Amino acid sequence: MTFNASSYVDPEFGSVDRRIFWSPEIYELELERIFARSWLFVAHESQLEKPGSFLTTYMGQDPVIVSRDAQGINVFLNSCPHRGNRVCFADSGESRQFTCNYHGWAFGLDGALKRMPKMGIYKATPGFRMEDWGLKRARVASYKGLVFANFDEAAPSLDEWLGDFRWYLDAVLDAEDGGTEFLPGGATRSVLNCNWKFPADNFVGDIYHALWTHLGGAEPTLGPHGGVKVENERSWHVSVNGHGWEFNDSFYGNAATMGDREVLRYMRSRQEAITKRLGEFRANMWGSVASSTIFPNFSFLPGYFTFRTFQPKGPTRTEIHAWTLVPRNMPDEIKDRFRRGSMRTFSPGGILEMDDGENWEHSTAVNAGWVTRHQRLCYAMNPQDEMAETGLAGNVRAGQLSDFNQREFYRQWMKMMDASSWQDIELAPVAGPAAEAVE
Ligand code: FES
Ligand code: FE
Repeated sequence: MTFNASSYVDPEFGSVDRRIFWSPEIYELELERIFARSWLFVAHESQLEKPGSFLTTYMGQDPVIVSRDAQGINVFLNSCPHRGNRVCFADSGESRQFTCNYHGWAFGLDGALKRMPKMGIYKATPGFRMEDWGLKRARVASYKGLVFANFDEAAPSLDEWLGDFRWYLDAVLDAEDGGTEFLPGGATRSVLNCNWKFPADNFVGDIYHALWTHLGGAEPTLGPHGGVKVENERSWHVSVNGHGWEFNDSFYGNAATMGDREVLRYMRSRQEAITKRLGEFRANMWGSVASSTIFPNFSFLPGYFTFRTFQPKGPTRTEIHAWTLVPRNMPDEIKDRFRRGSMRTFSPGGILEMDDGENWEHSTAVNAGWVTRHQRLCYAMNPQDEMAETGLAGNVRAGQLSDFNQREFYRQWMKMMDASSWQDIELAPVAGPAAEAVE
C-alpha cells in the first residue's frame, strides 16, 4: 500500500487525522509496520519462574506462546504450521510440550516440532525436514524483568529500541533491591470498542483528562480535586523513540492509595531511600501522579503499578490485559493493599478505568461519520519549555499539562508507517546515563 503517514500526522503543529483511529486499511498496515517489527511486551519474568511454565498472549493480532525451558524464555506463534489450528488454549500453566488438537503434532518448550503421529509410516515430499516445521519463533529479550519479543530479524536490539528510556524505566524496575514481580493471579482482561491508540496516547502523557474525566470517582474518595496536584510547575514530560512518561514532584503515590493511609505511609517511608538510589528526578517518577507508555501498546501507572497492554483486535476493538507490578521486597500486607487498590481503580470494574473506556469508545465510534472523520484532532497543548540544560537523557520538557509526549508518540508512529523496512527507521542515539538531578 502506498501510504504517506506525514499527511495524517503533524507533530510540529499538533494535529492528527482521525482516520488513523478508524480506517481498516491503515489498521492492516499497522499490523505489518508497527506490530510485526516493534519490540512488544509479552510477560514479566516472575510469571515464568520454573522450566515448563508458559503463558499465552498476543503480538499484534498474532497469538503467541511464551514458555520457559532449561535454556531460557521462548516466544513462538500459537498456530500449528500443519493446518493452522491453535496449539495451546490455556491462559497459563506448566507443560512439557504443546500438542495440537487436530492431528496431534507435538512441539517442545522451544516451539520445535518433536513428534508427528504415525511417524513410522509418514512419507513426506522430497526435501521435507522436521526442523523446518516448528512453531515460528520470535526474538526475545528482557529488560530488568520485563520480557519483550520481536518477529523482525532486522529490528535493532531491545536495548537500542528502549534507548535512554531504560534510565527512566529504572524508576519502577530498579527502585528497590530484589527487583519486581507481577502479583500472582494472572491478568484481568477486558474488551473495549475503541482503537488501540486512544488508550496508548492517553497513558503516554494525558494527565489533562484526569482533572475532568476522573473527578466523579476521585472526589468522593480523595476529596476536592481528587486530592491531586496537577500543574505545570515542577512537572515534566519525557520522551524517547515514542516511549513517554509524564509526572510531577508531588510524591503522592498515585491513585492506588485511594485514601489508603497504609499505602501512603509505606510509600513515604521509602521516599528517602529511593531518592538516594535514583536521584530526586526519578524518585518523583516513582512516586507521583504519573503515567507512561512504551511504544506502541504497553502502558503503566507508576504510583500503583498497574501495567497493561492494549492488544489490537481490529480498527475499532482493543483487548486490555492488566497486571499489578510491585517490588518483590514490599511487605505482603502492602502488596495486598496494592492488589485491592488496583482492583478498585483500574480493573474492568474499577471506578477510574470505566471512565476512560467510555471516552475512548465514543472517540472511536463517532469517526464513522463521513464529515466527522475528515476533521483533524487537536494535539496542540504545548508548554514548550525545552530543558536541554538539564543534561537528562532523551527529550525532556517542563510542564505536565502538555501534548508533547503524544506528538512524539505519533512522530514514531509516522516514521514506522512510512518506512518499508528497518533500514529507513532511525532511533535516537543512546546517550548513556543522564545527570542525576534537576535544579
Ligand atoms: Fe496441527 Fe494438524 S493442524 S497437527
Ligand atoms: Fe484515565
